[in-house]
Amino acid sequence: MMSFRKWFGSKPEGEQAALKLDADNIPNHVAVIMDGNGRWAQKRGLPRVAGHHSGMKNVKKITMAANSIGVKVLTMYAFSTENWKRPKEEVDYLMKLPMEFFPKEIDELIANNVQIRMTGWPEGLPNYTLKAVQDAIDQTKHNTGLILNFALNYGSRKEMLNGIQRLAQDMKENKVAADEVDEALFSKYLLTDPLPDPDLLIRTSGELRISNFMLWQLAYSELYFTDLCWPEFTEPHFYEAIGEYQRRARRYGGL
Ligand code: IPE
Ligand code: IPE
Ligand code: MG
Repeated sequence: MMSFRKWFGSKPEGEQAALKLDADNIPNHVAVIMDGNGRWAQKRGLPRVAGHHSGMKNVKKITMAANSIGVKVLTMYAFSTENWKRPKEEVDYLMKLPMEFFPKEIDELIANNVQIRMTGWPEGLPNYTLKAVQDAIDQTKHNTGLILNFALNYGSRKEMLNGIQRLAQDMKENKVAADEVDEALFSKYLLTDPLPDPDLLIRTSGELRISNFMLWQLAYSELYFTDLCWPEFTEPHFYEAIGEYQRRARRYGGL
């Protein structure tokens, strides 16, 4: 078992958990349902949006932690197609976060070779939100390290229906024959293409559900739930989740 001692050996506290990880068994793709921002704030007598702000800052910490152990793709569920149901003020606040996050963090993300991506529908997002994300995508497109993928205005059922509509159109135009439609081909019609399926899904805040997130892609992902709210889920907790992943036996229906 290769350890991370050479990288973390001299670093304090938080990284000690990383030392215990098997460097040969790091999940390629970790997806996170960042839940519990509102409850985190309310517990502290703060407005819900304060929780979103704190949660935003946590994205950077967990990105660096994932990068440091060699995760290849980190998908962060930031806004679902269902989150439009929330009060307008809260939605407006969330939509402004990319304009704060990216300019503040982009230099460090670039220095760490991180590539920004987005999975979700641009339609419906304010122009300023899209511009902030698109600028970050453009500025990091030549990077070759960790892919930090934001699921923004994303919903899995809509993704699958939209994929089926495009597939049906291609079949009608004789670009695809019915017997060619297999799992690999269908995956190409999903918004996540060409990313690999998540190996590990983490959901914070104690909710035990998937909330319309990557229903196809999570078929064989390991699921990790924690009662911690997203703003309090820090680096040692992330390494703990990876450690738990490493203790699981992935069988894919075999023995
Ligand atoms: C997750 O935190 C962030 C988003 C869904 C945008 P919540 O806002 O859902 O926080 P809770 O679940 O209400 O505590
Ligand atoms: C899931 O959290 C969506 C994101 C984290 C972006 P929600 O808070 O929207 O999920 P539900 O409503 O509790 O299922
Ligand atoms: Mg929630």
